[in-house]
Amino acid sequence: MKLLTTYYLWLNAIVLLLSSCAKAEDLSEKGELLGGKKVLIVYLSRTQNTKAVAEIIHKNVGGTLVALELKTPYPEHYQTTVNQVAEENRTGFLPPLKTKIDNIEQYDVVFIGFPTWGMQLPPPMKSFLNEYNLSGKTIVPFNTNGGYGIGSSFETVKQLCPNSTVLDIFSTRGGSERDGILYVMEGDKEVQVQSEVKKRLQKIGLVK
Ligand SMILES: Cc1cc2nc3c(=O)[nH]c(=O)nc-3n(C[C@H](O)[C@H](O)[C@H](O)COP(=O)(O)O)c2cc1C
Repeated sequence: MKLLTTYYLWLNAIVLLLSSCAKAEDLSEKGELLGGKKVLIVYLSRTQNTKAVAEIIHKNVGGTLVALELKTPYPEHYQTTVNQVAEENRTGFLPPLKTKIDNIEQYDVVFIGFPTWGMQLPPPMKSFLNEYNLSGKTIVPFNTNGGYGIGSSFETVKQLCPNSTVLDIFSTRGGSERDGILYVMEGDKEVQVQSEVKKRLQKIGLVK
């Protein structure tokens, strides 16, 4: 009888061990962060290119995905928006955000995604970085642009987050609304961006 009890105890222990291994495997397959860090992914996107990159990141690392929205949205008309953004950049106006993020202190890693606007960080992302204290957190910036690059956006992120660890920016070409080319993150481009994002996440140790 004693032998039988010992046998069952061992069997239980082995089953428990195996099920906890399976759990760990499931988590890494789902892309849970190494070290159990909490992730926030905040992005600004007008024509959905940056949103597509944000969603690829979210699929890989999980966490909370948040789109930045303004109390007063930008006009639909492209050139009117370009002019308004230029004026906001000139005066330093920070457009008020409709989006509210609860308990931002709980996050360890904050991905921030934005398009290049007027070769700068878009004013709504400046509003976000101005409104929320990201001190002590790791910031991972990502960007899409119409082919002219990131401009001063990355430098501005670093300036606005002096007490955060800001990792290198990931940037890819998106659409060009000026030329009537809007959403481009499909087909071959989507496959390419998925692979680039995954490599980058592996490099910075955020997914296996
Ligand atoms: C107001 C505005 C200004 C822009 N300025 C630039 C720019 O200076 N350089 C650039 O390469 N692309 C510029 N673009 C193009 C966007 O960066 C590009 O289309 C980006 O992929 C859009 O991302 P989204 O689809 O997430 O909104 C601008 C777009 C808008 C709407």
